[in-house]
Amino acid sequence: MNSEEKIELISQKIKEAKKITIFTGAGISKASGIPTFRGKDGLWSKYSASELATMNAFIKNPKLVWQWYNHRRKLIKQAKPNAAHLAITKIENLFKDNFTLITQNIDSLHKEAGTKNIIELHGNIFEVRCMRCGKVYGDDKIYQDSEFVPKCSYCKKGSLRPNVVWFGENLDRDILDEAMKKSALCDVFIAVGTSGVVQPAASLPKIAYDNGAFVVDINIEYSAVSIYSQETVISPAQDTLEAIIDKLTK
Ligand SMILES: NC(=O)c1ccc[n+]([C@@H]2O[C@H](COP(=O)([O-])OP(=O)(O)OC[C@H]3O[C@@H](n4cnc5c(N)ncnc54)[C@H](O)[C@@H]3O)[C@@H](O)[C@H]2O)c1
Ligand SMILES: [Zn+2]
Repeated sequence: MNSEEKIELISQKIKEAKKITIFTGAGISKASGIPTFRGKDGLWSKYSASELATMNAFIKNPKLVWQWYNHRRKLIKQAKPNAAHLAITKIENLFKDNFTLITQNIDSLHKEAGTKNIIELHGNIFEVRCMRCGKVYGDDKIYQDSEFVPKCSYCKKGSLRPNVVWFGENLDRDILDEAMKKSALCDVFIAVGTSGVVQPAASLPKIAYDNGAFVVDINIEYSAVSIYSQETVISPAQDTLEAIIDKLTK
């Protein structure tokens, strides 16, 4: 099947679907200028994950980790949603309450693109969580450019940490359960820009596949998701999703 025929088939499946779930990874934000974790221009070729994105690192060197997150927040703040994020919002508008977006990204670009029903599996880099009272909030005046780890504005004692899932940490149980449910219940499941190797997120396409969904993998190369996909489209996400939304709105 050539890519034109694949787009036609996927669009047809979407038209027939009652419920749709889209699952995104770092690849969807690449065209917005945010580096992915894997690949030669990935973030970790410059920084070591074990040095920075772990609880151990934060305990050992809180100031270094905090400043690295300041740096990442600054970079991400400059980024704008790209055509792929915007196409997903258009798909949500067609499906309304029968649409779910599950993202591994922490960059808020889906929200900025106007998508509403979002499950953020790995948290959000613009939020903080108090290590003492557990409160999660996003008032960046508290921590913007702070050189040191700020104290919680609620309990006044706890240290704030970025509200993201670090290496070696578990995902929030309720959030993961909801994501699994939305993967098992949909008719069409589309994975976009994910290598499909970070667990447990990577199990979601298989859950969809095992429960009867039509699974699509959109990536610039074959990924671990391709194994559980009825269709794989090897092309940048922004091009593929724009072509799909064109067919859907024609
Ligand atoms: N933007 C972000 O928020 C961001 C950035 C880096 C890492 N992360 C974190 O990294 C972890 C990584 O797993 P992952 O699977 O999301 O990312 P990953 O880095 O493992 O994989 C990215 C995938 O995107 C593909 N890709 C690159 N450009 C693409 C494009 N234009 N169109 C389609 N596909 C493209 C690559 O081939 C690769 O398979 C997650 O835990 C996530 O929280 C998030
Ligand atoms: Zn607190």
